[in-house]
Amino acid sequence: MTEIPYLRNAWYVGALSSEVAKGPVSRQLLGQSMVLFRTESGKAAVLADRCPHRFAPLSLGCVKGESIECGYHGLRFDPSGKCVLNPHGDHAVPRRSDVVSWPAHERYGYVWFWPGDPKRADEKLIPSLPFNEDPKTFAVIYGYVDVAAHYELVVDNLLDLSHVEYLHPLFRQSGGVAAHKTSYAVEGHTVTAKRLKPNVEIQGLMRFFWTSPSKRFDARANMSWNPPSLMSFDLGGTECGAPPEEGVCMPQTHMITPASDLHCHYFWSVARNREIDSEEASKKLYDITQNVFEKEDVPMIEAQQRNVGEVTDILSLGPVALDPDTPAVRARQILRDLIRSETAA
Ligand code: FES
Ligand SMILES: [Fe+2]
Repeated sequence: MTEIPYLRNAWYVGALSSEVAKGPVSRQLLGQSMVLFRTESGKAAVLADRCPHRFAPLSLGCVKGESIECGYHGLRFDPSGKCVLNPHGDHAVPRRSDVVSWPAHERYGYVWFWPGDPKRADEKLIPSLPFNEDPKTFAVIYGYVDVAAHYELVVDNLLDLSHVEYLHPLFRQSGGVAAHKTSYAVEGHTVTAKRLKPNVEIQGLMRFFWTSPSKRFDARANMSWNPPSLMSFDLGGTECGAPPEEGVCMPQTHMITPASDLHCHYFWSVARNREIDSEEASKKLYDITQNVFEKEDVPMIEAQQRNVGEVTDILSLGPVALDPDTPAVRARQILRDLIRSETAA
């Protein structure tokens, strides 16, 4: 159990769609061992990854029609966790043979699960990510990184746009943190950090997709957080003074899911409205993005966690506060409030 409980009545990402396309996926999520799979008709399912017979992981089995078959002795379970087949003896389904299930839904390239009250699991509460299902306009690539740190350290990292200037030489885009203003906005439960950079040299990822002869453009980098740890990033650049949608748009998602107190899963996607049929562009973009997370962000975040030991809330250590921390601190406050009201209820 974490010092601060997880928000339970919320959607979290448990796997990439590309992972469940290959078969059942075993994953530690919010401290529990779960198996995520897609039935043959395409329904997403998330069950406890433990067969009630001899406690084998169901993830070592395989999908059979609309159920998952245990790889040890063949009991089958449907997406609700109900045992629907016993191939042994008189085929009677034994009592107490169901497994725990969680509401699941597949959308936007991710398998989502809801660890709270199943009656409140409304698919409409999944944030809208239209660019991830608009293949005529956008090509999308996906990735995953395992992080040995508390999930809020990753949220802090993403909501703090200033670190790009120091940690990511390739993405430096503004001639230093002071060259452009970063503003913050809170609307409802959404926190956004906005960095607008009018009339700057073409820099960062934009260089790979900028085809106009102009040497300067209006750049933007706006990161939005929704509870518990779902982020979307509006990254783009356009001709000076032109509307954003006319330029290069690279909308991204960064979905962080706790595995346990000191370990989390980082699922990401990067869409682009340029060279959408180019496999080479997709591969290059994947390599660059995955490399930046694996070699730059994650080592720093894991080193932070090692430095504070098993502390899961770094604000409890009274850190020095800087201006770029503001959105992440607001996000932490909003999440605390939601968790408090959920616990009280
Ligand atoms: S352990 Fe699953 S059927 Fe035996
Ligand atoms: Fe980063």
